Amino acid sequence: MYLLRWLLALSALLTPALTQNTTNSSAPVIYPITSDPEMSFQLQVLLGYADGEGANSGEILRAASQLIPQNFESFYSAFYYLAAKIQSIATSTNATKFPVSARQAYFRAATYYRAADFFLHGNITDPRIYSLWASALSNFDAAIKLLPIPAARVNLTSSDGSYTVPAIFYPASATNSSKLPTIVAGTGYDGSQEELYHAIGKSLLERGYNFMTYEGPGQPTVRRYQNIGFRPDWWTAVTPVVDWLEKRSDVDTTKLALVGISYGGVLAPIAATKEKRFKAVMAIDGVVSLYDSLIAQFPSSLTALFKSGNATAFDAVVNAASFNTSTPSTFRWGVQQGMFAFNTTSPFDWVTRTKAINVTAESVKNIDVPVFVGDGEDDSSFSGQAKIVAGYLGDRAYYYEFTNALGAGQHCQVGAEYQLAAVMGEWLDGVFSGAKLLANGTVV
Ligand SMILES: *[C@@H]1O[C@H](CO)[C@@H](O)[C@H](O)[C@H]1NC(C)=O
Ligand SMILES: *[C@@H]1O[C@H](CO)[C@@H](O)[C@H](O)[C@H]1NC(C)=O
Ligand SMILES: *[C@@H]1O[C@H](CO)[C@@H](O)[C@H](O)[C@H]1NC(C)=O
Ligand SMILES: *[C@@H]1O[C@H](CO)[C@@H](O)[C@H](O)[C@H]1NC(C)=O
Ligand SMILES: *[C@@H]1O[C@H](CO)[C@@H](O)[C@H](O)[C@H]1NC(C)=O
Ligand SMILES: *[C@@H]1O[C@H](CO)[C@@H](O)[C@H](O)[C@H]1NC(C)=O
Ligand SMILES: *[C@@H]1O[C@H](CO)[C@@H](O)[C@H](O)[C@H]1NC(C)=O
Ligand SMILES: *[C@@H]1O[C@H](CO)[C@@H](O)[C@H](O)[C@H]1NC(C)=O
Ligand SMILES: *[C@@H]1O[C@H](CO)[C@@H](O)[C@H](O)[C@H]1NC(C)=O
Ligand SMILES: *[C@@H]1O[C@H](CO)[C@@H](O)[C@H](O)[C@H]1NC(C)=O
Ligand SMILES: *[C@@H]1O[C@H](CO)[C@@H](O)[C@H](O)[C@H]1NC(C)=O
Repeated sequence: MYLLRWLLALSALLTPALTQNTTNSSAPVIYPITSDPEMSFQLQVLLGYADGEGANSGEILRAASQLIPQNFESFYSAFYYLAAKIQSIATSTNATKFPVSARQAYFRAATYYRAADFFLHGNITDPRIYSLWASALSNFDAAIKLLPIPAARVNLTSSDGSYTVPAIFYPASATNSSKLPTIVAGTGYDGSQEELYHAIGKSLLERGYNFMTYEGPGQPTVRRYQNIGFRPDWWTAVTPVVDWLEKRSDVDTTKLALVGISYGGVLAPIAATKEKRFKAVMAIDGVVSLYDSLIAQFPSSLTALFKSGNATAFDAVVNAASFNTSTPSTFRWGVQQGMFAFNTTSPFDWVTRTKAINVTAESVKNIDVPVFVGDGEDDSSFSGQAKIVAGYLGDRAYYYEFTNALGAGQHCQVGAEYQLAAVMGEWLDGVFSGAKLLANGTVV
């Protein structure tokens, strides 16, 4: 049957279309899976994890078939069903005899539990926010113990002593015989440290880098179990990670890189202004501040209302819109997630606090190592900000744009993780081998 389909496809290929070497710029940048753009984007994120052992495309497309656009509960139901079924496959597998089968199922169950939780943050008293997360963590922990080189969790104390930083270390080598370059990665506004393994971790480990992830205030476990929202002093989460790495015998502390994904694209450079032990910083992608992005994306009447300073009026309008199921999902989810992640009940407070989490021309003067500033040609979340960050950094920036034509133009190169990992690995190899960075950003 495959052969017949292949022959039919071949005859179609043997037409002049074979010579086509342009793409249709009127077509959508990425083919949408549902008519709800936010759900469609999240499905692309999940599909991207298939390449890093975090998902399977058929499972996700089946769940997608069950979704009702604008209906957040439908996303929960479709992925909860899938998560529970895949978890039962994992737990009924003899992990001693079949460690690969068990690991793959545990990883996917973890991903689907996280997906089930994704759209539920509008109701902070919803107990599923905790129960789904507990399941996601326990499945993930079962999986990382079954990796060829097992990874391990560690809890660290923030450098100001006020909170705990949960972290995971994935060694690239099974022995401690050599010190290896090490990448410390943090995510953003809504992502978890666990998914970073699937997005970039597995690929970077294969390239010989140790991989470490952590979460800070506002991010999933710190927000849930310590009740702390995002705050500007991001180095307090990163410094204990470096302290811990310095004590390991398998880490080359002269080759440490700090990576920030998504909203992490502003958090990592902020940390690097105070934590100086990294030899390279990577912003995937470059971000100036969430505040600038919100103000640019709000309807102009809403921006004017915010700037008027009337918190009562602003909160009333935003709350009404974010709990109205006719409002586009991107706005509803963005507000609900923002209130959750900033640990606040006031949209005015949320927007106000996003201002203080920024990079400026002045603050980046405190970064004296090369900074990779990624950009997506179609990045809808932080449009135009990467170029501004690169401008602030001048000679220290290496600006790199991922393109729509190759499917890499989305925010964080969602769905083109192999292109991202290849570029990251090559740039870091250049910086760590002492290559000179030219004024225009080229490594020689
Ligand atoms: C394909 O690319 C070649 C080389 O860049 C160019 O000369 C040619 O015009 C292109 N063909 C089409 C159909 O775009
Ligand atoms: C390009 O894409 C648009 C939108 O999908 C479509 O209407 C148009 O027919 C396409 N053009 C070609 C040459 O395929
Ligand atoms: C699981 O597999 C191991 C190794 O083959 C075997 O020793 C053990 O008895 C199995 N456990 C169960 C519950 O079947
Ligand atoms: C929020 O969740 C709680 C607990 O499940 C429930 O009792 C309450 O009705 C929910 N509130 C809304 C507005 O849905
Ligand atoms: C880290 O702290 C959390 C919350 O107290 C706890 O559940 C978890 O077991 C700890 N992990 C490690 C590796 O100590
Ligand atoms: C987070 O919000 C809760 C509920 O309002 C509050 O009790 C707690 O103190 C807040 N956390 C921080 C770090 O402000
Ligand atoms: C490698 O060294 C670290 C501490 O430096 C230790 O925690 C770890 O267990 C060691 N791993 C192996 C495989 O010996
Ligand atoms: C703020 O807005 C509310 C509701 O629209 C209004 O009642 C109040 O007078 C406004 N306050 C100021 C200081 O303008
Ligand atoms: C919800 O939004 C729609 C579309 O903007 C609007 O027509 C409707 O009145 C709103 N519903 C409520 C309860 O505000
Ligand atoms: C940027 O953040 C700093 C430190 O949190 C804050 O003092 C400053 O006002 C912010 N700048 C802008 C333009 O919002
Ligand atoms: C950067 O400068 C070098 C040396 O002048 C040049 O070879 C290279 O093409 C330039 N790269 C870019 C991207 O402009």
